[in-house]
Amino acid sequence: MAFLLLSSPLPFSRVALLLKLPSRRPCFPNPSPFFTRCRRSPSPSHHPHHSQLKSLCIASSSGLKPIARSMAREDVLILGIETSCDDTAAAVVRGNGEILSQVASSQADLLARYGGVAPKMAEEAHIVAIDKVVQQALDNANLAARDLSAVAVTIGPGLSLCLRVGVCKARRIAGMHNLPIVGIHHMEAHALVVRLVEKDLHFPFLALLISGGHNLLILARDLGHYVQLGTTIDDAIGEAYDKTARWLGLDMKKGGGPALEELAQEGDADSIKFSIPMRQHKDCNFSYAGLKTQVRLAIESRKICTENNPISSANPDDRSSRADIAASFQRVAVLHLEDRCQRAIEWALKIEPSINSLVVSGGVASNQYVRTRLSHVVNNSGLRLVCPPPSLCTDNGVMIAWTGIEHFLAGRFDPPPPANEPENYLVDLRPRWPLGEEYSQGKSEARSLKRARIHPSLTSIIQGSMQQQ
Ligand code: KG4
Ligand code: ZN
Repeated sequence: MAFLLLSSPLPFSRVALLLKLPSRRPCFPNPSPFFTRCRRSPSPSHHPHHSQLKSLCIASSSGLKPIARSMAREDVLILGIETSCDDTAAAVVRGNGEILSQVASSQADLLARYGGVAPKMAEEAHIVAIDKVVQQALDNANLAARDLSAVAVTIGPGLSLCLRVGVCKARRIAGMHNLPIVGIHHMEAHALVVRLVEKDLHFPFLALLISGGHNLLILARDLGHYVQLGTTIDDAIGEAYDKTARWLGLDMKKGGGPALEELAQEGDADSIKFSIPMRQHKDCNFSYAGLKTQVRLAIESRKICTENNPISSANPDDRSSRADIAASFQRVAVLHLEDRCQRAIEWALKIEPSINSLVVSGGVASNQYVRTRLSHVVNNSGLRLVCPPPSLCTDNGVMIAWTGIEHFLAGRFDPPPPANEPENYLVDLRPRWPLGEEYSQGKSEARSLKRARIHPSLTSIIQGSMQQQ
């Protein structure tokens, strides 16, 4: 078996230290991997399972976890809240995977206007939307907050200002209705949401997670146990799609990725020979910064001017040049994914010979060209390709609720926060938070320089807390 480089799991006190939190004794004998505080005993409620859960929480907080583990799936109802980037999303999902509601408020207009996510403006947009979105999710599910079993919320990675809006909302609801709370890793949620749809997708499996901020190849060995085979050394593929779309003058209100995918269908993908990134590096890491530069140069050399000349007003020749660039970019961007997936499949089969699926998720996984190309790679390796439906690939509340369900049923959650928590309460946010430890062969020296202020990985925290049980 190949050697895995696992850093020693950090004890709770060390995690608190890294977060610069005042050291405090946790309520639970075994510290929860998610939020790290509990200040008071909860009060009873009338929901049948709650009364059982909550009275146990009063008597002995450690008893809460076995009860959650033994709850029937159909009785579990979780509200998921997502605000890590530019979408305010919420959903209610039943433990058996039934989606009771799914609501999102997009910041596409802001993105189109400012050309990217400005944290302060994104935070304000979340603040404006959050109460409405969450209430709508509860109303559409025909539920009141007191009917829920728990609240799940993204605590990282993402923009701190944005994460804080969702986390504070989740804590307010959980505190008011005495509900347990599950802190979610955004990228784990992208990887796991497909299990809501494909009930026969079991661990271990390989996952390619492609979004605006991340490019990850992950071996999912078990719930909460991930090995990172590769990541990006600079930009993620979604960022490259968005920039290319902007430079080509596409309608960013549709989202850069979807607009570029559409235009690429009109173009000749072989017309421009962009070079494929990192062919000389025999690992599973990604790089899209160089491809972005090549695109920029191609646009300049063809004298395509998109200022005050959006694609909607381009003449046929101009439109066709832009379509050629879009198609050529997409071909090479996806060839890079194909190369890395091919190698990751070989690595993953060495570590876990029983894997039979490659999960592809994250916003870029809704792209049809990406799916078709990757299905060839996967079929040639004797694996199957599993993708969530497009509506569950881009950021959504369902993936947070579902991942909350998976951890809740495994007994991993935090007790209800206090009902009267002050507004300025210091919450646990993890803006830079790896999902798993790096596979030794996949380590990148280029990236080691950028590792400052990274939170210990989800996997090391969960494995550490399991060892202490
Ligand atoms: O996962 P996601 O919704 O948010 C992040 O976690 O970043 O991914 C958003 C990214 C954006 O860069 C968006 O342009 C890209 O996914 N995307 C696409 C497509 N749909 C969304 N990229 C290519 N083709 C698409 N159809
Ligand atoms: Zn995402």
